Amino acid sequence: MEVVIRQHEQQCGVTAADIVADAVRSGASTLGLATGSSPLSVYRELIRRHRKEGLSFAAAQAFLLDEYVGLPPSHPQSYAHVIRVEFTNHIDIDSGCVHSPNGVADDIFAAAAEYDALIASAGPVDVQLLGIGSNGHIGFNEPGSSLGSRTRVKTLTEQTRHDNARFFANIDEVPRHVITQGLGTICDAKHLVLIAAGGHKAEAIAAAVEGPLTASCPASVLQLHPHVTVVVDEAAASQLKNADFYRYALKHKPAQQKF
Ligand code: F6R
Repeated sequence: MEVVIRQHEQQCGVTAADIVADAVRSGASTLGLATGSSPLSVYRELIRRHRKEGLSFAAAQAFLLDEYVGLPPSHPQSYAHVIRVEFTNHIDIDSGCVHSPNGVADDIFAAAAEYDALIASAGPVDVQLLGIGSNGHIGFNEPGSSLGSRTRVKTLTEQTRHDNARFFANIDEVPRHVITQGLGTICDAKHLVLIAAGGHKAEAIAAAVEGPLTASCPASVLQLHPHVTVVVDEAAASQLKNADFYRYALKHKPAQQKF
């Protein structure tokens, strides 16, 4: 696991965009996308590079991590809608190649299994972007999630519903259930890139990176993955005990070694 500490959120976005852009230019065609606030700086930078530098996503397909149960893709807070507004409508990816779980399927349990199978058949995902919840979730794998879990229906904690209420008119509108890629599904991706900014993420980042491997902090599963880059701003890094070493290692990174 490589931990990259940047001064500000916007610089985190540039670093994560460097990783995605390098992968795409080297032929990566399967991207894993997160929603929420954390990846917005990455998406802004990738859109800029698409417009100004000709970075093309025409050959790419994308898979979202999760979707709220009960929100159709036309709903402004459905992740299928959000990813289009924030990112994919502004680049040259084929809209039909932007996949997300079907949160309004008659059988949401079957829809979850179908989504997992779709990722498996199209994958592996080359680069998977991740945010982290203040309780250590990735995707919507809340504390207690099996470290080997596959895509399935999950219940959100009240903390996550409160954290996400800012996107809705009020807390009552935040769905209680989601379909989320499992931790095992996420870990099938070749390169995991977790982005976090702000002091409210510091505890979760410290637990994920330096705490014990435990289902109580689902993001700690990243410790088992062979290729993980954690990109954090100073505030999100503020509880990392080994922060000085991460800075030292980055400064002395062999010139030929990529992220
Ligand atoms: C969203 C997702 C979640 C978020 C996490 C952080 O697709 O999978 O794990 O990444 O809840 O959310 P923000 O970035 O809004 O703080």
